[in-house]
Amino acid sequence: MKDTTMLSRRTFLKKTCLAMAAPTIVPSSVFGQHAPSNRITMGFIGLGGMGTNNMRNFLGQPDVQAVAVCDPVSITNEYGHWYKHGWNGNYFGREAARLIVDDYYSSKAAGSYKSCAAYVDYRELMSRSDIDAVMIATPDHWHAVIGVAAANSGKHVYGEKPLSLTVAEGRAMVQTVERNGVKFQTGTHRRSDASTRFACELVRNGYIGELKRVEVLLAGNNRTAPTGAWTPDPVPEWLDYDMWLGPAPQAPYHTMRCLYSFRFIEDYSGGQNTNNGVHAFDIVQWGNGSDFTGPIQVEDLGAKFPRDGLFDVVEFIHFRALYANGVELIARTEPDAFQITFTGTDGWVSTDGSKVQTSRESLKSVRIKPNEIRLYESHNHYRNFLDAIKFDARLASPVQIGHRSTTIPLIGNIAMKLQKKLAWDPDKERFKGDDEANKLLSKPLRSPWRV
Ligand SMILES: NC(=O)c1ccc[n+]([C@@H]2O[C@H](COP(=O)([O-])OP(=O)(O)OC[C@H]3O[C@@H](n4cnc5c(N)ncnc54)[C@H](O)[C@@H]3O)[C@@H](O)[C@H]2O)c1
Repeated sequence: MKDTTMLSRRTFLKKTCLAMAAPTIVPSSVFGQHAPSNRITMGFIGLGGMGTNNMRNFLGQPDVQAVAVCDPVSITNEYGHWYKHGWNGNYFGREAARLIVDDYYSSKAAGSYKSCAAYVDYRELMSRSDIDAVMIATPDHWHAVIGVAAANSGKHVYGEKPLSLTVAEGRAMVQTVERNGVKFQTGTHRRSDASTRFACELVRNGYIGELKRVEVLLAGNNRTAPTGAWTPDPVPEWLDYDMWLGPAPQAPYHTMRCLYSFRFIEDYSGGQNTNNGVHAFDIVQWGNGSDFTGPIQVEDLGAKFPRDGLFDVVEFIHFRALYANGVELIARTEPDAFQITFTGTDGWVSTDGSKVQTSRESLKSVRIKPNEIRLYESHNHYRNFLDAIKFDARLASPVQIGHRSTTIPLIGNIAMKLQKKLAWDPDKERFKGDDEANKLLSKPLRSPWRV
C-alpha cells in the first residue's frame, strides 16, 4: 500500500481526479478464497484521522470489500501536521480515502481495478442495498443520527466512541440496534486488548481484595483556540460546512471548530472526558463488573471551564461517582496521562491501556484459572466485528456496553457544569429530583436531522 505522505499534493490530486471518473469494479481474484457471498461490503463514513485509520484496518481484512466512502471534506492536508507523522498520512477526506482504496485494490490486481464511490451525503451511501456494513468515525454530534439511520437500513455498524453526544441519543441507538437485529461494535478497542483484559480479570477475581476505589487520570485539552471575541474564518473550498454541522446549531466557521478540535466544543463533543475518558471509563466498567448499569451518584469536585472563546468544554476534569456496590470512581485531569488504577483492600492494579502495573510483582505472573471469572477474549476489534456479522460471534463492545461507558462522562460533565452532587438512576437513566440536570440529558437537533 502506498503511503500518501510520499505523494506530492499535485500527484495526489491528479490521481484523485482520474479516480473520480471511473466505475466500480473489483476483480474476484483480489479476495482469494472469499467468494462474493463470503465477503462483507463496507462503506466508510467520516474519513478524518480515526476513520482513515479504521478504513485501512478493514482493508487489511481479506473478506472485506470497500465499496464507498463519505465525508463533507473532499480532500485536505491542512490538518495533517497535527497527527503523528506517518500514522495516517497527511491527507484526509473522501477523495483521499478513495485514493487509498483504489491504490490498495490496484496494487493487488494491476490494471483491472476501478474506483470506489465517494459521497458527500451519507444518505446516498445508506440507500445502497449492496452495502452490508458501515464504519462511522464522524464527530460525536453525528454518531446517533447516522448510527440510527444505518441500523434502520439494516446495516451493521462499527461506530466510533463516544457512542453519542447525549444519554438520550445513546439509548435511542441501543433501541434501534436491538429492534433491527444488526451488529454494532463501539470503537472502545481496549476490550480487544489482552493486557487490559488481564488487569480487569485480576480485579474481578479478587486478587487485590475487595475493590474500593478507581482513579482515572486523563490528559488535558491538546488544542488551543481563540479566547474572547474571535473573528470567523472563510469556509474552505474543500468543506461542505452545512453537512459538517448537520444536527448541530448554525455557527460561524473557524479553523479550530472542525477537524479534530470539535472535541472541545459542547455542540459537538464533551472534551477529553468523552474523548479519552470513554476508553478509561469502559475499562472501569469492565473491571468493576458493571457493564450493563452505571453509578448511582455523580459529583463535581471543582472542575474548571474556559471563561470565554471558541472552546467551551471542561478543561480541568474533576468529578467523583459512586456505584451501588460502594466502589468510588474519581476522575481528574493530569498532564499527558491516561491511567486507570483499581485499588482494593489488598493492593492495586493500574493500566495505561497497554502496560499493567501492580502493587505486588507476583500479581503480574498470575494465570487466571479456568474456574475463575474469564472476561470475553477478542484479539482484534475489527476482526471481532466481522466475525460477529459472519458467525454471530459475541461482540467485544456491543452498543449496550458502549452506551453505559459513554454515559459516565456524559453525566460527569453535567455534574461538573452545574457544580452539583447528583443522584443518578441507572435503570431509568434519569437524575433523581433535578429537572435542571435532566434537561441536559438530550439536545435539540437542527432540522431536518433527527434520531
Ligand atoms: N477509538 C479511538 O481510539 C478513537 C481515536 C480517535 C478518534 N476517535 C473518534 O472518532 C471520531 C472522529 O475523530 P477524528 O479524530 O477522526 O476527527 P476528524 O475531525 O479528524 O475526522 C472526522 C471526519 O468526519 C467528517 N464528517 C463530519 N460530518 C460528516 C458527515 N455528515 N458525514 C461523513 N463524514 C463527516 C469530517 O469532515 C472529518 O473528516 C470521534 O468521534 C472520535 O472520538 C476514536
